[in-house]
Amino acid sequence: MPVYQFEYQRVSDEHQLQEADAHLLQEARNIVKSAYAPYSRFYVGAAVRLANGKIIHGVNIENASYPVGLCAERSALASALSQYPNELVEAIAITTYSNEKPQNEPAFPCGMCRQFITECEDRFHHPVRLILAAETGDIVIVPKASDLLPFRFGPSDLL
Ligand code: THU
Repeated sequence: MPVYQFEYQRVSDEHQLQEADAHLLQEARNIVKSAYAPYSRFYVGAAVRLANGKIIHGVNIENASYPVGLCAERSALASALSQYPNELVEAIAITTYSNEKPQNEPAFPCGMCRQFITECEDRFHHPVRLILAAETGDIVIVPKASDLLPFRFGPSDLL
């Protein structure tokens, strides 16, 4: 039977990260409390690094009509790709905060965000690196976002 495998890294602190990854994670941590999450009270911050070196931030933005709410990853990417449509997305750092349940385990992007992020890989023919961390605890690096969405639906299904 075929087996699906992929490579990722798990490290115990920022000092084990590449400098650029540590910086991007810090940017996500700096923005996380700007989230608008009155319903879940689960705050998510994202920082996207583009090929031109620009870092663009995003947070989750909830809505009284719950499904209308936006995840931090898509919020950051929509902003980045609106401002710099020709700059490939190199990496995105994602972090979480809750004042009710201390966060020490990285949260992985939801399915909808995985679909959104992997389209960036298709669009720019370049992997998007994920840096995932809570307030404390281990940090997970996934070098290629599409590894988290095997057998995905993509542009090649349509064109
Ligand atoms: N959320 C994100 O921002 N990113 C994810 O990948 C998972 C979930 C947000 C959506 C909602 O505002 C809150 O976290 C609880 O689901």
